[in-house]
Amino acid sequence: MSTEVLQQTKETQLTGNKQFYIESYGCAMNFSDSEIIGSIMAEHGYGHTNDEFDADVIFLNTCAIRENAEKTIRDRLKHLRLNKKKNSDLIIGVLGCMAERLKTKLLEEEKLVDVVVGPDAYRDLPKLVAEVEEGNRAINVLLSREETYAEISPMRLNTNGVSAFISIMRGCDNMCSFCVVPFTRGRERSRDPESIVAEAKTLSEAGYKEVTLLGQNVDSYLWFGGGPKVEFKNADDSTKANAVTFAKLLEMVAKVDPNMRVRFSTSHPKDICDDVLYTMCKYDNICKYIHLPAQSGNTRVLEIMNRTYTREWYLDKVKRIREIIPECGISCDIIAGFCSETEEEHQDTLSLMQQSRFDFSYMYKYSERPGTLAAKKMEDDVPEEVKSRRLTEIIQLQNELSLQNNSAYIGKTVRVLADSLSKKSDQDLSGRNDQNIKVVFPKGEHKIGDYVDVLIERVTVTTLIGKAIN
Ligand code: SAH
Ligand code: SF4
Ligand code: F3S
Repeated sequence: MSTEVLQQTKETQLTGNKQFYIESYGCAMNFSDSEIIGSIMAEHGYGHTNDEFDADVIFLNTCAIRENAEKTIRDRLKHLRLNKKKNSDLIIGVLGCMAERLKTKLLEEEKLVDVVVGPDAYRDLPKLVAEVEEGNRAINVLLSREETYAEISPMRLNTNGVSAFISIMRGCDNMCSFCVVPFTRGRERSRDPESIVAEAKTLSEAGYKEVTLLGQNVDSYLWFGGGPKVEFKNADDSTKANAVTFAKLLEMVAKVDPNMRVRFSTSHPKDICDDVLYTMCKYDNICKYIHLPAQSGNTRVLEIMNRTYTREWYLDKVKRIREIIPECGISCDIIAGFCSETEEEHQDTLSLMQQSRFDFSYMYKYSERPGTLAAKKMEDDVPEEVKSRRLTEIIQLQNELSLQNNSAYIGKTVRVLADSLSKKSDQDLSGRNDQNIKVVFPKGEHKIGDYVDVLIERVTVTTLIGKAIN
C-alpha cells in the first residue's frame, strides 16, 4: 500500500491509558470504517470510550454527500470547542469523506481540528495522532488503489451483538454526475473473499445472527487474485473460471451459518444480474430484500445523471426481481429536482414509484457538490421551492405505497430477528422481517437475538405491529 504523509510524522509509540471516542455520520460504509479505526487505535494502546468527556481523542467520521451533511459536521465541530476549552490537550480529528473532500481546508478554516485523515489512510492514524501530541497538526488524505483493510478484524462498536456490517469492497468507479463518493473514496476495489468469509465465521462464532455485506455497488464485486479490475479481461481462462463474482461471494457467506441472515447493500440497477437473484432463492438465510436506487424515473434525467440505464431498463429489473423472487422487498433512493428536471420528468419519477411499488425509499433534494460533473457542467436551476414541493410529493406517494404494502401483511405471520428493545416501550421488542421492514411486538419470553414468528395485527407507514406466536 502506498501512503504519503503530507506532514512528516515520526514513529512514536503511544503509551498510557488514553481513550478515543468516535462519532459516525453518513452511510453504513462509514459506520463500518469506524470499527476498523477502532481496531487500529486499540492495537496502538488506545481504549474506546462512549463518553466524549472522557476522551483524549475525539474523531468525527464524516459524510460529504449533501451540503446538509457537511453543515451538521461543522455545527458539531463548533460545539466540540466547549470540550476543548475544558481540556486543552484534547485532540480532535476529522476523518472520512468530508476530510477527503476538504483536505487541508479543514485544518486552516476550523482551527480546532488537529488531524485530518481520509478513508484510505486509517492505518496511519496512530502515527498522526502521535504527531499531534507533539504539538503539530497532521494530515493524510491520500487515496489508494489497493487498500481494503482486509486482514483487520473490526472492533464492534455500539453493537447489539446481533447484526454486523462486513465491508466487501471500497470506492466507486461509476461517476454518477451528482455524486461526490468517487472523489472521497477513490477507485473501486474488491476485498479478498477469504478474509470476508473468515470475518463472517468469526461473527457467527460470536453469536451474531445477521451480516450485511457492504459496498457502493456490490454487484460489481469481482475477485480474481487481486489487481485492478480492468486487467480481468486479459486474464487467462483458469483465472477467469476461478474468479469470485458477487453471486459466488454471497453463496460463500450464506454457507457459513444457515442460522445467520445475510443482507447486502447497495445494488446498482445496471449491474444486478440473474445469478444474484437465483443465489438469493437458493439460500433461506439470504434475506429477500434489495436496495435498488433509481434516482429518477425519467430517461433523459438518468442520462445526464450518468446512471447508464433507462427508465425501461430499471422497470425491467424490478419485473425480473419479482418474477424470480415474488416476495422480494425493494427499496429505492430518489433525488428530487436534479439540474434541468422538468415537471413532466418529475411526474415520470412518481409513475416509476407507482409501478415499482417500493416498500420504502430514501428521498432527497438535489444538493450540488463541488467538483462533480454536474457542478462543473450543469446548472442547479430548479428553484428551491420547486425542489421542496417535488420532494414533498415524492414522500407523500412513498408513504401511501408503504402503507399499502404494509397493510398486505395484516393477518400474516412474518419471521423477525429481534435486534433491540422498542424505542416506545421496553416491554416490546423490535426487529426486521426478511424484507427489511420494522416489526414491533410484546417481548414475552423472547429476547434480543431470537428469531420470532410474529402475527401482524396492525401497521403504520414504517412499522408492522403484532404478537409472537412461537
Ligand atoms: N452507491 C449508492 C448510493 C450512495 S449515496 C448508489 O449508487 O445508489 C446515497 C444516496 O445519496 C444516493 O443513492 C443518492 O440518492 C443520494 N445522493 C448522492 N449524491 C447526492 C446529491 N448530490 N444530492 C442529493 N442526493 C444525493
Ligand atoms: Fe455515487 Fe453513483 Fe457511485 Fe452510488 S454508484 S456511490 S451514486 S457515483
Ligand atoms: Fe457519505 Fe461518504 Fe457514505 S459521502 S454517504 S459517508 S461514502
